[in-house]
Amino acid sequence: MTQHKTFGPALHVERAEGAHLHLRGGKQIIDGISSWWVNTHGHCHPKIVEAVQEQAAKLEQVIFAGFTHDPAENLTRKLLSKVRESFENCDGVPLQHVFYSDSGSTAIEVALKMAIGYHDNAGEQRTKVIALEGGYHGDTFGAMSTGERGVFNALYEPFLFEVKHIPYPHKGQEMRTLQWLDKWLNRYGKDTAAFIFEPIVQGAAGMRMYPAKLLKKMAEMCREYGVLLIADEVMTGFGRTGTMFASSQAEIVPDLLCLSKGLTGGFLPMGATLAPRKIYNAFYHDEKAKQFFHSTSFTGNPMACAAALASLEIWDEEPVLQSIQTIGEHHRKAAGWYSARPDITDVRVKGSIFALDVRDDVSGYLSSIAQEIYDFMLDNGVLLRPIGNTVYILPPYCIDEQDLERIYETLWRSLDSLRDEGLQQAA
Ligand SMILES: Cc1ncc(COP(=O)(O)O)c(C=O)c1O
Repeated sequence: MTQHKTFGPALHVERAEGAHLHLRGGKQIIDGISSWWVNTHGHCHPKIVEAVQEQAAKLEQVIFAGFTHDPAENLTRKLLSKVRESFENCDGVPLQHVFYSDSGSTAIEVALKMAIGYHDNAGEQRTKVIALEGGYHGDTFGAMSTGERGVFNALYEPFLFEVKHIPYPHKGQEMRTLQWLDKWLNRYGKDTAAFIFEPIVQGAAGMRMYPAKLLKKMAEMCREYGVLLIADEVMTGFGRTGTMFASSQAEIVPDLLCLSKGLTGGFLPMGATLAPRKIYNAFYHDEKAKQFFHSTSFTGNPMACAAALASLEIWDEEPVLQSIQTIGEHHRKAAGWYSARPDITDVRVKGSIFALDVRDDVSGYLSSIAQEIYDFMLDNGVLLRPIGNTVYILPPYCIDEQDLERIYETLWRSLDSLRDEGLQQAA
């Protein structure tokens, strides 16, 4: 996702602490995007550091097929209890099994394979998958197939499998989305294995936000036809949208829940795909050919498990949800100021996420203002990485008011500078 010819040299990070990155040469930068949305409690949280150090000295890695260990078992118990708690009062079957992999993309691949395999092992060959237009689910081939087709993957298009994309529910067009889905389900509902979506916020599409109620409705419609719901909470999981998991705001328990990024507090790479017993049971068979065929060498890595367990314990020991709420309050205040700017549209906030669109002749990923804002912010000690003409702030939850104010203020100046440049060019 970087054009090396034009992007400039990479910055050399020596260490990090809390919301700050420390560069070689002494410069300090506020990490306004949680290092690509992975970090939750701040960099090098001492509890996670200690857990990983301790685990590294005991058991660093072992085959996780036919073997097990404390970190994986303790994490699984903890994760499932957090999930149970978060989805209390939501509609659906409890998630009781976890498949560990090593990234968001692999968590998605696993979910897709489970969905297709579940139906097949139950004697139903469902060959279709539907996804929400604009989604991003990763860069492996299955994940790319389900994601938005665009400049990111145009080259690989002939190699991607067919996925039908439901029109995105832009404001005022929600009925169109529901009508499309209704028509599809009437025709192909029984051939459709799964519906994959990023619940309520589409990250890479530009932090696009849509109503939880609409997702609930779409989920209910899919359920009538036995279409499995795959919630991609790789970005939205672990508090980003104000609740532990975004799907709970739509009051649904997904059939397959994909997690990564914040799972380890952003400390180590890890993916997890959670499934209910019925999906586990579909592969539980006397026949070897019916097993779930998927392996990743580092599945259940003990150090990643230890990091994830420590991270989940931090949720119990520190007021993390309260911090997210406070970040949201600051964002909403800032949203008020930014909404008054004529060069800005659609200022939006959900949980700890703040986003706005800059008016530009070229909207979307190829807009050149992303680079200009990125450079300006970095020169002024803040890491933001706009997506085309969308600028967003997605900070670690430990960020303090002073750093948040600094981000808003620097972004304001960055937009002024863009505007003045535009005026100069026009003159
Ligand atoms: C919603 C979503 N799904 C999947 C992925 C892929 O995760 P990874 O980069 O860990 O493969 C991402 C990454 O940004 C994401 O935002």
